[in-house]
Formats: sequence, structure tokens, C-alpha cells
Amino acid sequence: MTAPQSPSFGAGATDSAIVTIRRGLAVAPVLRNGLGLTFVLAAVGSAGRIVVPILIQQAIDKGIVGSGEVNVGLVAQLALLAGAAVCVAAVAFRMAQVRLGERSEQALYDLRSMLINHINYLSLDDHNEERRGGLVARVTSDIETLTQFFQWGGMAWMRSSTLMSIVGIVMLAYDWLLALIAFAISFPLALVLRAVQKRLVVAHGQARQSNGIMLGAIAEVVSGAPAVRAYGAGTMLASVVEETTERKARDQIRAALYGAFLFPSGEIFAVFTVSAVIGVGVWQGPTDGLTAGALVSFVFLTYRFLEPIAEFTEIIDQTQTAVAGLHRVLSVLDMPITPTEPHEPTPLPSGRLEIAIEHVDYSYPTRTGEHSDSAAGEGVLVLQDISLLIPAGQQVAVVGSTGSGKTTLGRLIARFADPTNGTITVGGVPLTAVARSNLRSRLVVVSQEPFLFDDSVERNIAFACSGASRDDVEGIVRHLDVVEWVDSLSEGLETRVGERGSRLSAGERQLVALLRAGLADPDVLILDEATSSVDALTEVRIARALDVLASTRTTIAIAHRLSTASRSDRVLVLAGGILVEDGHHDELVQMDGTYARLFDAWMSATSIRDGESMQPNK
Ligand SMILES: Nc1ncnc2c1ncn2[C@@H]1O[C@H](COP(=O)(O)OP(=O)(O)OP(=O)(O)O)[C@@H](O)[C@H]1O
Ligand SMILES: [Mg+2]
Repeated sequence: MTAPQSPSFGAGATDSAIVTIRRGLAVAPVLRNGLGLTFVLAAVGSAGRIVVPILIQQAIDKGIVGSGEVNVGLVAQLALLAGAAVCVAAVAFRMAQVRLGERSEQALYDLRSMLINHINYLSLDDHNEERRGGLVARVTSDIETLTQFFQWGGMAWMRSSTLMSIVGIVMLAYDWLLALIAFAISFPLALVLRAVQKRLVVAHGQARQSNGIMLGAIAEVVSGAPAVRAYGAGTMLASVVEETTERKARDQIRAALYGAFLFPSGEIFAVFTVSAVIGVGVWQGPTDGLTAGALVSFVFLTYRFLEPIAEFTEIIDQTQTAVAGLHRVLSVLDMPITPTEPHEPTPLPSGRLEIAIEHVDYSYPTRTGEHSDSAAGEGVLVLQDISLLIPAGQQVAVVGSTGSGKTTLGRLIARFADPTNGTITVGGVPLTAVARSNLRSRLVVVSQEPFLFDDSVERNIAFACSGASRDDVEGIVRHLDVVEWVDSLSEGLETRVGERGSRLSAGERQLVALLRAGLADPDVLILDEATSSVDALTEVRIARALDVLASTRTTIAIAHRLSTASRSDRVLVLAGGILVEDGHHDELVQMDGTYARLFDAWMSATSIRDGESMQPNK
């Protein structure tokens, strides 16, 4: 999946709700496609609800009043017809609900993947890991708001809007004057309901707050009992508790009163409206106005018309929150991805790809006029004059102490930023000439802290390949030899990983990211090993998966565990942004230089760790 181009969503903070929704639909085609049919199904569902009043009218006018005697056959037929209509409507409505549910879930899933990709590819200059993490967290909560909206609000909109429009049209067709009277009287209902609901929300909030204050006061008295006794402060504190309890009771009663007012206000308006309709209907008389049946039917329709108003006023807040969330999501997609795309991209050659780095320098720019939290000052070279050739298919490990520039090097190869000086070519093509989508499909980065979202392990693996089936996911699990890890999870592939993968360990999150990368099957894989400690078993699993992946493609593993380096074809050693050693693990150990020292330090740390883990109860 490629990150979307930003220019097509040029948005400002002032976008109206309609513009935001339109843009939202544009980026989520799953939701937009077939939305018309979903509406039609919902409309059929709503139409079913007005068939009964219409048939009642027919039954009264033709079956009971019309011919002078009761036409039992006709009434029975109409009753059957009404039954059938209700069934069809129920089925149509259910179908609309299922469609909206499925599509919104898929659309939000796509949107989330798109956002995570986009955030991943945001300018390296402006967004360090922490900022990226913050953005992902914010966007995740916005997507959650949208999910909640679709679970209830979306369907409520569909149901209420179709019902109101259809009922409105039928009412106008029966008698436009009566219909207009009904509309006019029901309008203030919306205002009243909205006002009461707003107060109800505030009152509930206040009641919750005073409940908290009351509980706090009680807890203070209980936990501080000895001190209270010692200083004889009992009476004073008792009055505090009494006061907070009274306030809580007052606030709760107020909230209950608003609640009690809300429910009957719809009924009261219905009575007003229906009385007016009947009054005018009777005044018009049977010759000018409605027949007896039509008047009865009209009364039913009036009730149907008023029903959705209450629902509308309830979903309005939820809708506003959802639109605000959507707006924030879209504004993240608007953040420009740098470096820029080439005007006339050169496609990467097929097959394995070699990587050539020539005299590459890199310094993180500090943004002007803004405080930068980066450690590197302006112009500080974090990579200096790096030159090397990685032949196609080689497995390379990059090692070095923290801050030596390993991650930065990986990111330059993935073109998250362009070198300050020098060039990088992949498969003989300079990175600046490769289209972003082309590069992303051929080169995959598994970052130090990969982003997982709160969904199943399966969905997290499949997210990079939208068309991947369950079989594909199971296939890659087998291929990377991690079946027993998946089996060890409580629900296998269905196990949910928690927010940002919190229910998995850092190593397991990387394993999921490796499976994701395996499914994408790139020609170049860059793995930035997790810095945080990984338990021995997961380490073995990651190593096994990496070995399988590395066997068929060019692989660059930024290694924090030197066991990875010792298994690689070649080790690159960085120190202070300079490539100080380059060779096979055995050679470098022999050389007794930087790598040998790193390796010694790692070996002793590992033996201490393993020694500790051998101890009982650890
Ligand atoms: N976004 C950034 N803005 C400014 N400076 C940065 C940024 N990211 C990293 N640096 C600096 O660049 C240097 C190299 O960082 P880099 O992340 O490449 O190191 P590393 O070798 O991957 O370290 P580690 O082993 O801790 O992952 C460090 O001095 C770091 O502080
Ligand atoms: Mg790093």
C-alpha cells in the first residue's frame, strides 16, 4: 500500500462539516462505493414503516366506511399485505445495517493503515520517533471516535433521515396544508429537545464530579482517621462530608429532573401536533379535506415523523465529535511527505537489488523559529562520508554504540530523507529518481518500535497487503517458522494485540512486523532491531524469521544483538557517524578493534543476563 499524495487533500482548519465528510468519503472509497444502495435499502426499510398507516387508511375508507358494510376479505388482504411489507422492510433494514457495519469497519481499517503508513513516511527532519508515536496515538483515538460513531450514529442518521423524508413526502401528498402544520409545530420540538439534552449532559457531568468529590472526602476521613482523632477535627470533617453529600444529591436530582423532562417532551409535542392536525382536518370536513381513513393515517404518520427528531438531537453531538475526529485524521494525511517525488521516475529493475552508497553525509536540520528537541545541533554530521557497496542478496549487519547513526543510515537507504551530501543508488537507480510507491513496494523497513494497532495479530500482519487472505497469513507464519509462537497466543491469530501492541512484548511486536514484511515480500529488507531487551525465546524466533527472510533478498539488519551480526555475511561498524570497520564477524573479532570491544561487552552482558535468567524464580 502506498502513502497517499498530499496535494489532493488540500485542507484548511476552517473546512465545514460537509467538506470534511466529502473528503473523508474520497479517501475511504470502500465506504463511498455502494453507499447509494445502502441508502436505498434503508429507505425501503423506512418505507415499510409507513405502509401500515397507508393500509389502515385503505382499510377504513374502502373496507369499513366506503361500501356501507365491512369488507372482511379486503381488510384481511390488506392486513396480510401489511405483514409482508413489515417483513420486507425489516430484512431490507437489516441488510442496510450489515452493509454499513461491514463497510465502515473496512473503511476505518484502510484509513488507519493509510495513516500509519503516512506517519511512517513523514519527513524525517521534522518527526522523530516520539513525535511519530504521539501522532499515531492521537490518530488512533480519533479513529476510535469514528468507530463509535459508525456503530450507532451512522445507522441512526440513515434510519432517521430516510424515515423523515419518506414520511414527509407522504404527508405532503395526503394533504399539504396539514403536513405543513405538522412540520411547523414539530420544529420547536427539535429546539426544545436539543436544549434539554445539552443541560442533561452538563448536569450528568456535574453529578459525576460531585460524586467524585464526595468519595474523595469520605476516603480522606477514613484514611486519616487517627490524625483526625488526634487533632479533634472530627466535627469539621463531618460537616465537609455532609456538605459534599448534599451537593452530590442536589446535582443528581437535577440530572434526573432533566432526564424526566426529556422523555415526555416528545410526547407532549406529538399531542399538540396531532391535536392540531385533527382539529384542522375535522374543520376542513370530509368534502374539502381528508377522508376518515386518511385522517387516521395522517395521525399515525405524524407520530412517525416526530420519532426521528428525538434521535437526531441525540446523535448531533456524536456526529460533531466524529466530524472533528475525521478532520484531524485528514489533517494528518495533509502533512507533506518529503523528500519530493521525481517528475519522471525510473522504475527499479526486477530481481534482487544491490545498494551503493557514495560519500554520504547527513545532518538533521533544526527547524528555524521553533524549538527543536533533537540532540544534534544545526550542521552536526551524524553520518560522515559513508561509502560502501552492498551486493544484491547480501545479508549485512550494522552495529555501533547508541547514537552512532545506524538508524539514520537505514532511513537514508529507505529514503525517509535525502543525504546532505553524496548519493545512494538501489539496483543502479539513484533513490532520487525512484517513485515512492515503487520504492515502498520493493524495500520494507521494520523499525525499532513498529506500529501495531489495536486489532488481531492477523490483521496486523495483513495490513501491508490489503488483498491478503487468512491462508496467506498462515502461509507466512509457517514460512517464517513461527507457528508455535502463534499457537502459544491465547487465541492464535485472532489474539488482539492491545493499543499500540501493548499486550505483546517489544520482541513480539517486531516478530509481527517481520511477518508483515514477509507477506509484503520486498527485495530489500531493513530491520532495525528493538533496543529494549527481548526475552531469549523471542530472540530465537526473530533470528529464525530473519534468517528465512534474509536468504532470498538483500537484508540490512541494524543489530543491537551481536548474535545477529555474527550470523550475517558482513558487518558494518559505525562509530560517531563514521564507518570504522567493515568485514565478516570472525575477521573483525580478530582485528581487535571497535567491533571486538563491542562484541566482548555484549558477550559479558549476555552471560550476566543469561546467568540471571537461570536463577530460580526469575
Ligand atoms: N529526528 C532527529 N533529529 C535530530 N537529531 C537526531 C534525530 N534522530 C537522531 N538524531 C541524532 O542523530 C544521531 C544518530 O542517531 P541514530 O538514531 O541514527 O543512532 P542509532 O545508532 O540508531 O542509535 P540507537 O542504537 O540508540 O538506536 C544521534 O546523535 C541522535 O541524537
Ligand atoms: Mg537506532
